[in-house]
Amino acid sequence: MLAVQKTESRVNTPLLAWTSAFVLEEATMDETHREFVDLLNRVAAASEDDLPASLDEFVKHTEEHFGQEERWMQEFAFPPAHCHQGEHANVLEVIREVRRRVADGQVQLGRTLTDALAEWFPQHAGSMDAVLAMYMKQIGYVPGGDNSAAIAAAAAAMAAQAAPGCSPGADACGHDAPVENTQS
Ligand SMILES: [Fe+2]
Ligand SMILES: [Fe+2]
Repeated sequence: MLAVQKTESRVNTPLLAWTSAFVLEEATMDETHREFVDLLNRVAAASEDDLPASLDEFVKHTEEHFGQEERWMQEFAFPPAHCHQGEHANVLEVIREVRRRVADGQVQLGRTLTDALAEWFPQHAGSMDAVLAMYMKQIGYVPGGDNSAAIAAAAAAMAAQAAPGCSPGADACGHDAPVENTQS
């Protein structure tokens, strides 16, 4: 009976409620993050039977979500990109592993995963994604737009060493921050 009540409360109350604190004022990123939170809540509320399909949808969306940010960072050679990508890669690896284990019958890991991601997302959005969104605004990069001026601005900022570095993540992510000026 308690278990039933717990399941119902998960359905009625989202695991992670959207809050204005998640809004980074970069329209495409904010929309993707809203979708991420919605899908995470759907996985958290899924019945045992629905869990595999909801996890598949979540994995696909997360691959696209992370891939989108990584394409942007590559486009304007964002100095802390390697830290950000590294964190994405670690999180995706865990999600995919949980998906495999759920397929093997370890369905309780779905709950463990969603609880962990509900803690991880506010941190990641408030740090790495916030810095990325701020930099995009600073250089005038708009996803899907003509960004030649923004990319030139980013290259100029990097040449002047005004671009944000990987600190304090440089040591934490285990890489040196490669800041190379490819402009000659
Ligand atoms: Fe993100
Ligand atoms: Fe990110």
